[in-house]
Amino acid sequence: MNYIRGMKSAPWWKEAVIYQIYPRSFYDSNGDGEGDLPGITSHLEYVQKLGVDAIWLSPFYTSPNKDGGYDVANPRDVDPRFGNLADAKALIVRAHELGLRVIVDIVPNHFSDQHEWFQAALKSSRGSDERNCFHFYDAKPDGRPPNNWISLFGGPSWTQVEDGQFYLHLFDSSQPDLNWENPEVNADFETTLRFWLDLGIDGFRIDVAHGLVKENIHADHPDPAGLSLALRLDVEMDTQIRHALLETVPYFDRQGVHEIYRKWRKLFDSYGDRDVMAVAEAWVHPPVNATRYVRADELHQIFNFDLLTAPFESAFLFDVINRSIELNATVNALPTWALSNHDSPRVASRIGDAESRALALFVFALPGSAYVFAGQELGLPDGPLQDSDREDPSFIRSQGAIKGRDGARVPLPWSGDTTPFGFSSGKPWLPIDQSWQSMSVGNQNIDAKSVLNLYRSALSLRALHLTGEGEITWLQSPLHGAKPDGLLTFKRGEITVVMNLSQQPHEVDIAGQVILLSAGVLDGRNGKKLIPACSTVWIHD
Ligand code: NOJ
Repeated sequence: MNYIRGMKSAPWWKEAVIYQIYPRSFYDSNGDGEGDLPGITSHLEYVQKLGVDAIWLSPFYTSPNKDGGYDVANPRDVDPRFGNLADAKALIVRAHELGLRVIVDIVPNHFSDQHEWFQAALKSSRGSDERNCFHFYDAKPDGRPPNNWISLFGGPSWTQVEDGQFYLHLFDSSQPDLNWENPEVNADFETTLRFWLDLGIDGFRIDVAHGLVKENIHADHPDPAGLSLALRLDVEMDTQIRHALLETVPYFDRQGVHEIYRKWRKLFDSYGDRDVMAVAEAWVHPPVNATRYVRADELHQIFNFDLLTAPFESAFLFDVINRSIELNATVNALPTWALSNHDSPRVASRIGDAESRALALFVFALPGSAYVFAGQELGLPDGPLQDSDREDPSFIRSQGAIKGRDGARVPLPWSGDTTPFGFSSGKPWLPIDQSWQSMSVGNQNIDAKSVLNLYRSALSLRALHLTGEGEITWLQSPLHGAKPDGLLTFKRGEITVVMNLSQQPHEVDIAGQVILLSAGVLDGRNGKKLIPACSTVWIHD
């Protein structure tokens, strides 16, 4: 297929910049307060001009929307809130016309309880084929659930049905886990993969890719409460204790998942020169386990989530970046980098404005793929919300103890000076704070120093100078005696990248022309360069 501009000899996804769109929050074309597929299609030129290679769409399938669409009731149809299948097709066609690939989510760990399979299971008796698509078990003799696992959204991971059996749900009770030992489950997912590939998409983001296979369901975990805290990104915990707990998760990262992805890889490869790719959402420990998902006969990429929680601190960043590059290299894969997504606090809120600009330029220069969460290019922080606005099941299930992920999902401000800034002609599903006025696309377009224009420059310079799998060579790092809060500098091809993590300007003696600077003004004396505090600079040889 050569409808994609700029075909390179390496597969398109190897060093792609992938823009994640949360459909509900992108652009509302019909005034119902929620973003939709035609809204995305009408703004794809904006995405193309940003300079990305592909879009990844979070779920837009039929869903009661108990977990932002990750509770899928029909994976082969579009929820009417987002449009219909013709709208999906139109989106894919328009994206391809603009040279953008399209990745969609697939959610194989669970269905919604509204899926016809689960409804049939509820109406069937214990031991039936219908129940065997999920994990239904009898209660323990004392009436308790089959084990003591805690849901990732809080509360027990078992819910009892009328006849006394329990079903397993690692997430919300409206998200029953599928039983992957039943071959019908894989057959149905292969039908879904083909359905979207035949509609023209280019790849999949696999939700909870490490969770499909369960073992020893009847064994209790020795410390379910500790494990549940270790799994939460918003809970601080001693790193050693956390890692020890994370290695004991009984329901993640079982060997059987790899058999599934080997089968799927054959299916992807059967699409030949389409270069279909898949990226795993898999939080696994120890980190070396991540490499198993990207062996040559499995998936193409695995998310590296280290930077979603990383402090703006050079020793930490140096370690996680090196580790990711080195581990991936053992299986001939390239890393992925993400600073924000729909499940975590936005990077600007987490580490600050100047820091997040600096870090973005730093990771855009690294080898591998970079994922950008829509709104990150505007420097958006988490939206300020009242508890009454929140919809996240983790907020609801924890009775408010966990604030949840809604802050990162507030819709995008597009234009004008009054909320909701052109996102919708109606009332947005989450309020957009008036303080976002200066961050709207319209206002950033006309500000040469805006985050938006910085991202545009960075991505066009990346495409020009920084792809091609070139290795990086560290010039300044904790290993080279730079102070922990000092400088991180590497060279890749003809570009030297310097990140100054400190609150003071730092002088460097690097020849060449500055082609990009994340913030501030570059001062030069005696041929040296004074790098502003909290900034990253790209220097061309
Ligand atoms: C990961 C998704 O990114 C998240 O939004 C969702 O809640 C869980 N998986 C469950 O599907």
